[in-house]
Parts: sequence; structure tokens; C-alpha cells
Amino acid sequence: MSRLIVISNRVQAPTAADAGGAQGGLAVALTAALREEHGIWFGWSGETGEDHKLRFETYEGVTSAVMDLSEQDVEEYYDGFANRTLWPLFHYRLDLTEFERDFQGGYERVNRVFGQAIGPHIEPDDVVWVHDYHMIPLGWVLRQQGVKNRMGFFLHIPWPPTRLLVALPQHRRLVESLFAYDVVGFQTEEWLESFRHYVVTEMGGVLSDGDCVTVGGRTIRAIACPIGIDADSFIKAANGPVAKATQLRMLESAVGRSMMVGVDRLDYSKGLAERFSGYERFLQNHADRRALVYLLQIAPPSRTAVQSYRDIRDNLDAMSGRINGAYADIDWVPIRYVNQGYPRDVLAGIYRAARIGLVTPLRDGMNLVAKEFVAAQDPHDPGVLILSRFAGAAAQMPQAVLCNPYSAEDVADAIDKALRMSREERIARWKPMFDNVRNEDVLWWRRRFLDTLTKAPLCERNTI
Ligand code: G6P
Repeated sequence: MSRLIVISNRVQAPTAADAGGAQGGLAVALTAALREEHGIWFGWSGETGEDHKLRFETYEGVTSAVMDLSEQDVEEYYDGFANRTLWPLFHYRLDLTEFERDFQGGYERVNRVFGQAIGPHIEPDDVVWVHDYHMIPLGWVLRQQGVKNRMGFFLHIPWPPTRLLVALPQHRRLVESLFAYDVVGFQTEEWLESFRHYVVTEMGGVLSDGDCVTVGGRTIRAIACPIGIDADSFIKAANGPVAKATQLRMLESAVGRSMMVGVDRLDYSKGLAERFSGYERFLQNHADRRALVYLLQIAPPSRTAVQSYRDIRDNLDAMSGRINGAYADIDWVPIRYVNQGYPRDVLAGIYRAARIGLVTPLRDGMNLVAKEFVAAQDPHDPGVLILSRFAGAAAQMPQAVLCNPYSAEDVADAIDKALRMSREERIARWKPMFDNVRNEDVLWWRRRFLDTLTKAPLCERNTI
């Protein structure tokens, strides 16, 4: 019987240790697939340890297998190559990208360790699905071990333009390793286009037969397959008791003011400093309407061992303090800045209470907060989504108020426009976005990717 093997850096399968804890949409979708297909989810335990042994656990019908990494592994692979080299580079931030040979060495070493540990557990009929930038060479390592199964890779973040990618020493080696997979998926046509451009111009690759990309003797299928949210369960959460109580709490504390909300990991790619500047510009331009709004920015800290993440945190502490000091009144503060995360049902209530959702990343593979905000709205009185044109989600939701997050004036104008928008226009914009969020949900994404991997004829079997 064929099983599904999922491999990613973070494993979000339910475990006995976090029984009852909230799972994110991706985790819900993949967990359901693993349960149906009797699969296994492999990855890092999130802890440090020296022995590189897989620990298996089956909970609620889903098996996970996690491994500790050594401190050196974490420094070079996770904090290093994944988050100080690939993350900034793939988000167009060459200025923040660090190139260290040790990082690359550690990244390849950890991928080898994972591949060697996982390889023996793969059975002939299994379908293997590898996720995200931490694990790009893993398929290649598995092929080296004789794994002949169908293997797919999905990149959750953008793929950078060729002219940026070539700044990465050994860029070609990294891209070549993707040709060990049978299917490689990207969030949008734009990222797919950048990948195809690289393959043609840097590798002499040939595009054929719709999705097929050939380099040398190896052909893979490269597709755009945008990820969605678990829309039905999010809509249900938004109508549930926790969300209702949260919505009430927010409305009471707002005392008639309109709330704008932002929810982002504390990451420079999310454009938080630029968002604060845009909001400050709005406060300057509209002194008369200042005290009628406020911004709730939820930003849980992320990747705190990496200096650029510490810098953005310091910067935002300073900016929120300065803006609040400059504009607050005795009964109003412009920014409520909160450095902690909240469960999904609480967030659903916050989104529903908001008049505006501010999703303004400088670059984002997709952005699921935008989709969750849309899913949580009251159909008769929906809030307005202000969305960066540089988020992958903008391709599916052009009815949002699209803005250029780099321009404080553009963000300020978008806020003004959203606050003035009639209920009719809000509904007319929201409805098609809601339909998209519901139709192209996370189940649709999973099926589309796995159908391409398992049912579509392979362009040609990869041989290495
Ligand atoms: C992004 C990446 C994921 C990652 C998540 C959280 O969404 O695409 O792969 O898991 O950020 O980041 P973290 O470093 O905490 O896993």
C-alpha cells in the first residue's frame, strides 16, 4: 500500500506532548493526509542533542519521526544557511544575506544526516513530499541512497530573480539538486517564472510539454500551486464562542474607534517598520481623524538567534515607542504593539472585530494571514484587506486594496481609502476573495500537488 512521507524542518504532527494544542492550517491539512495514507512526518525535533536518532511517535493515527540536531548543526544549518543566507536572499534582501562556507557545509551535512536516517524507512510504493528551503538537497541525498520513489518538493517562500540568485556561491549546485525530484512546486506563477528563467539562462535548460523542464538528461515538472488555508475550520472558528468573546472584548476596548490589525512573525520581510511609517503618515495627514482609529500589531518574536531579527525587533520597539509618544492622548494610543502569539480562534475573533487587515510584506511567498482575515469576516459587514502587491496572495486576491509597502504615502492612502469605503464596496470586494479562499483551500492545494506527483505522467524518470 502506498504511504505519504512528509519531510520538513518543523514537524507539526500532533504529539502526546502537545495534546489539545492548536494546529496551524498546513499542519491540519498534512495531518489529515498522513492519517488517510498511513504516512509518516519526518523532521527536526526543535531540540539539540548529539545522537541523530529518529524518535517515532504515533498519536491520533499520525506517526511523526523527529531527530535532535547538534548545536553546531543548528548554528550552521538552521540559523546559518537557512535563515541567514537562503531566507534573506530568497526574499530579495541581498543586503542582509550572509555568505559563510561553514553555513553551506552545515546545510549539506544536515541534509545528508536527515536523508541517511530517513532513507531506510521509505518503502517502494511510498510517495515522498519534501517541504521548504531548509531541505532543498534532501531529494538528491535520498536518490543517492537508491530511493526510486516519486518525490515532490514544495517551496513555501519566493524564488528569487536570477540576477539575485547568482550572488549565492554554488547557486548552480543548489538548483541542480532540485532535479532529483519529479515535481517541484512554487506558490505563484511569478516565482515559477523566475525558476524557469534561471534554468534556461544559467543551466541551458529546455522548457517543454507545459510544465516540463529539462536540464542535461533529467526532466522534472515545475508547477505553480498556491497554498490555501483550512477555510471551513477557520470560518467555523470565527463563528465559535472563543472568537465571539474575543470580538466583544475588542469592540469594548475600542470604544467606537476603528481597529486596524496586523499579525506577523517578527521578520524583516513582513514590512513592519514600513507599515508603522505608513500609519504615521496617515496620522500626520489626517490629524482630524487620528483618534478615530488605532493599530493592533501582533508580532511574536522569531529566529531570535539571528542578528537581523534582533535588529528589526529593536527598531520596532523604538518606532512604536516614538510614534505612541508623539501622537498619543490621555485616552488613546495609536499603536498597541504586542510581542506574543495567540491561538487561531482568538485571532479569528480579532480579525472579525477589525475594520482593516493590514498585510504589507515587502516580499512573501504567499501570506496566509491575508486569507485568514478574509475567511473571518462578517459577510454583511466585512472589513477591508489592505494587501501588499508583493505578497503571493495578491495574485489570487486582486480585489484587496493593493498597495506598495515601501511607500509610506501609498500605505497612508490605502488606510484612508479603506476607512472611507462604503459597505457596498466592502462587500463587493470581499465576496470574490472569500470565494477564492474557500475554493482554493489547503485541501485543494494538497490534492493538486499530490495528483500532479502521483497521477500525471512523469516527464521522464530522473536518473542520477
Ligand atoms: C515560514 C517558512 C516555514 C517556517 C515558518 C516559521 O513560513 O516558510 O518553513 O516553518 O516560516 O519559521 P521557523 O523558523 O520558526 O520555523
